[in-house]
Amino acid sequence: MPLRPDGIVIAIDGPSGAGKSTLARLLAERLGYIQIDTGAMYRAAALLLSRAGVNLDDSAAVEQFCRNLDIRLELDSGRQVVRANGTDVTDKIRSAEMSLLTSRTATLKPVREAMRKAQQLMGSRGGVVLEGRDIGTVVFPEAEIKFYLSASVEERARRRCEEMISNGEPASLAETILAVEKRDQQDSGRDIAPLRQADDAVLIDSSRLSIDEVLRSMETLCRHKIENIDTLP
Ligand code: DC
Repeated sequence: MPLRPDGIVIAIDGPSGAGKSTLARLLAERLGYIQIDTGAMYRAAALLLSRAGVNLDDSAAVEQFCRNLDIRLELDSGRQVVRANGTDVTDKIRSAEMSLLTSRTATLKPVREAMRKAQQLMGSRGGVVLEGRDIGTVVFPEAEIKFYLSASVEERARRRCEEMISNGEPASLAETILAVEKRDQQDSGRDIAPLRQADDAVLIDSSRLSIDEVLRSMETLCRHKIENIDTLP
């Protein structure tokens, strides 16, 4: 008997640029699971708060705003769409400016509480790959399998620059290294649900590994887990 109706919960945590999104997507495809990009949810929340002009230092106003937050991840012709209070914000949440704003917004308790509850609801049936910073530690501490995906700051900044260049955006490696370091500090240094490797997470350093190599080892571990859970009495 599987523990959950639709399969296991797979948590992938780690700093930005470690390859979580790509690997979560590929792993979910291989297993027939649903990918839940929790970073996209935080980005959408940050965008809505900023558009509404909510003062992030006013905790009562943030809390009030978060009561009516409705952030969904939907599939539209194979493409994942982020819908925030009914509006498609998929293309608006990926800028460097939004990354920094999101990192700051993600320190706020009402935002984290709203996202945690939504994510727990989305993943409770299993059959999901959730990627983020606090999935294995806070959102699904009971996840059947946890990965902590890491890579050096230089390698993560280099990958981010490559991505920017391929999008036709100007990119400077030195500036990107500083931005990556700043986000790492904000994500790991916050009081609530900081980025941290869960004690029972499998650590993978992707600095010198190809996506394919990492994917293969993740998939092997997941399939092993799924098979063993299925055969439990
Ligand atoms: O994974 P990402 O770069 O899209 O995440 C954007 C920001 O959201 C990042 O600075 C950290 C934050 N975040 C978080 O605090 N907790 C999560 N589970 C996911 C993202």
